[in-house]
Amino acid sequence: MSINNEIYSQQAGGWWDENHFLHLLKTGMNPPRFGYFHDALTRQLGRHPESLSVLDVGCGGGILSEEFAKLGCRVTGLDPSAPSLETARKHAALEGLTIDYRQGSGEDMPFETGQFDVVICCDVLEHVNDLEKTIREVARVIKPGGMFCYDTINRTKESRKENIFAAQDFALTSFFPKDTHVWEKFITPDEILALFEKVGFENRDMTGLNSALPDLQVAGLLIRRKLGLFTFAELGRRLQFQTGGGLQASYLGWAIRKH
Ligand SMILES: C[S@@+](CC[C@H](N)C(=O)[O-])C[C@H]1O[C@@H](n2cnc3c(N)ncnc32)[C@H](O)[C@@H]1O
Repeated sequence: MSINNEIYSQQAGGWWDENHFLHLLKTGMNPPRFGYFHDALTRQLGRHPESLSVLDVGCGGGILSEEFAKLGCRVTGLDPSAPSLETARKHAALEGLTIDYRQGSGEDMPFETGQFDVVICCDVLEHVNDLEKTIREVARVIKPGGMFCYDTINRTKESRKENIFAAQDFALTSFFPKDTHVWEKFITPDEILALFEKVGFENRDMTGLNSALPDLQVAGLLIRRKLGLFTFAELGRRLQFQTGGGLQASYLGWAIRKH
């Protein structure tokens, strides 16, 4: 079973389209994940965004890169998909944002050692070909004392039910194309922490990223979206994703590169 990362090239026009599943990242995931990283960066670490260089690894269409650019950070986005980067460049231009989008993979980044204050990697680690190599590269390009922000999906019974069965396989609720995610590539918190230990990251926090709604209500929303009653943008808002709670499916966190 192999993951289909071609989706991000074949469907690169979808990132900013309210009727496309990729837009769920904007209205569903961005509010809680960006709020969480922003709080950690500015309140907990006391950093000033306008002085920071930020790298977004696996930036896709720039949905998260743009949030950091709007804060005043100097943002670079890296992704293997040329069509997604094209979409990202066009959208940034429309928004009047300056973001340096580059083609490349997380396993082999075209950047200097210690180049960035912050590296973000969201919804990407479960897609890469070589997780350890990617985490090593992230650690290499972050300055000592710099911050790594991540989110990914745990490999559990719950994630098989939510992210594979409901989101991908079951005809009444599914919205992802087959093989968007492969359960075996999901990453447990212990696995990620073991890699952090190897490469010199000190993890500072890790928490859940889940819908505030009960499962039945989530299923109802997925079915109604499938019936065409509202857009993916609206589905993202209605799902009310929030940080906190268990790590049983999606989770996010941040770490510091040790000196
Ligand atoms: C689910 S999307 C996440 C996009 C973006 N990070 C966000 O959250 O809005 C996964 C992205 O990872 C990228 N990707 C796949 N394999 C990768 C790799 N080896 N290195 C870096 N990015 C990769 C895909 O092209 C795609 O844009």
